[in-house]
Amino acid sequence: MRVLLFTGKGGVGKSTLAAGTAALCAAEGLRTLVLSTDAAHSLADAFGVPVGSEPTEVTEHLYVQQVDAQLRFQQSWAEIQGYLLSVLDVAGVDPVAAEELTVIPGVEEVLALLELRLHARSGRWDVIVVDCAPTAETLRLLALPEALGWYMQRVFPVERRVVRALRPVLSRAAGVPMPEDDVFVAVERLHAELEEVRALLVGPDASVRLVLTPEQVVLAEARRSYTTLSLFGYRVDGVVANRIFPSDGADDWRVGWVVAQDSVLAQVTESFAGLPVWTSVYRPSEPVGVDALRQLAAEVYDGSDPLLLPTGPGPFRIARTSSGTVLRLSLPLVSRAEVDLARNGDELVVTVGSYRRLLTLPAGLARHRVAAARVEDGELRVRFEESAS
Ligand SMILES: Nc1ncnc2c1ncn2[C@@H]1O[C@H](COP(=O)(O)OP(=O)(O)OP(=O)(O)O)[C@@H](O)[C@H]1O
Ligand SMILES: [Mg+2]
Repeated sequence: MRVLLFTGKGGVGKSTLAAGTAALCAAEGLRTLVLSTDAAHSLADAFGVPVGSEPTEVTEHLYVQQVDAQLRFQQSWAEIQGYLLSVLDVAGVDPVAAEELTVIPGVEEVLALLELRLHARSGRWDVIVVDCAPTAETLRLLALPEALGWYMQRVFPVERRVVRALRPVLSRAAGVPMPEDDVFVAVERLHAELEEVRALLVGPDASVRLVLTPEQVVLAEARRSYTTLSLFGYRVDGVVANRIFPSDGADDWRVGWVVAQDSVLAQVTESFAGLPVWTSVYRPSEPVGVDALRQLAAEVYDGSDPLLLPTGPGPFRIARTSSGTVLRLSLPLVSRAEVDLARNGDELVVTVGSYRRLLTLPAGLARHRVAAARVEDGELRVRFEESAS
């Protein structure tokens, strides 16, 4: 099963491209699902039909789903939130404020992605296209299970045993309720489910497409997303430049735009060198409905396979060389100065700007020391050496 994610700045055409690509796949006879995790839910508007929170058939082989994030949120988060609320209640926090404090921004979106797990297991689909919310925030949040991995494996089970044994004493002494065991069960389950989704999205059959419009501000954000997505192990396999003004028969106003767009498009090609850059013209009207969307996608991919798997090495690999073991992580569009590297036990902490990834090192490397690190050809390369001790 192939998974394609579409992301990009607000309003650039993510939903349009996601819907169009799905319509094109379905027309080729592939069992296709396009789903949105975004609360805005514009897929129904793009297809021009009502769409429910369960997969709704739009045309042969094509199903659309707008995940009810609120419902998923209640299902997955309720027990954990209940406990947090009881703690905040003891602390004297106003219940309405407490409710807000227990909601992590973006958490609803991430929980909506849990839907992917069930779809992947069902065997019902050949292709799943995900219309993501603006920017790569959600995908970054999915790094959470990885970041919590160490804690979940080592600390969590101990904590759970301790709390179970000492709950009555501690609750009395601290005056704060201790979590019941079902809170631990809920945390553990959520962690495992998120991990499963992340594994699916960084796996060999998944890739991310960046949608942009040829404008400086939009390009700048797409470049940052490219770096961040790579940092967290997602594979970007192409860029769609949408809403390109046709140059023929243009008046002065449009000629100005055509020139400006051309210049940004040249930067797009340069920024995403090595990736396909598909283009899509600014249509005289909104592409709404299956036919218009499929038509748009057919022109975008122009005969090339919309599901082509990215070639070349993945975003993360480890190789043994004569001078030690080298870890490589794709990190396009940054210089060494923008990357910070730290070692924390068997984890490598990679920081780029305000984004941080905790990479758990394979057992074989855990006792090696970092001998050298550089950023070259869009990759972070870290060389490990066996410790002298
Ligand atoms: N190539 C195009 N030509 C004409 N109109 C387009 C084109 N691409 C998208 N649109 C229109 O632009 C608007 C925004 O597109 P769309 O909803 O796909 O963007 P989005 O990135 O999903 O937005 P949001 O960030 O709000 O989710 C829609 O009205 C859509 O029909
Ligand atoms: Mg949208």
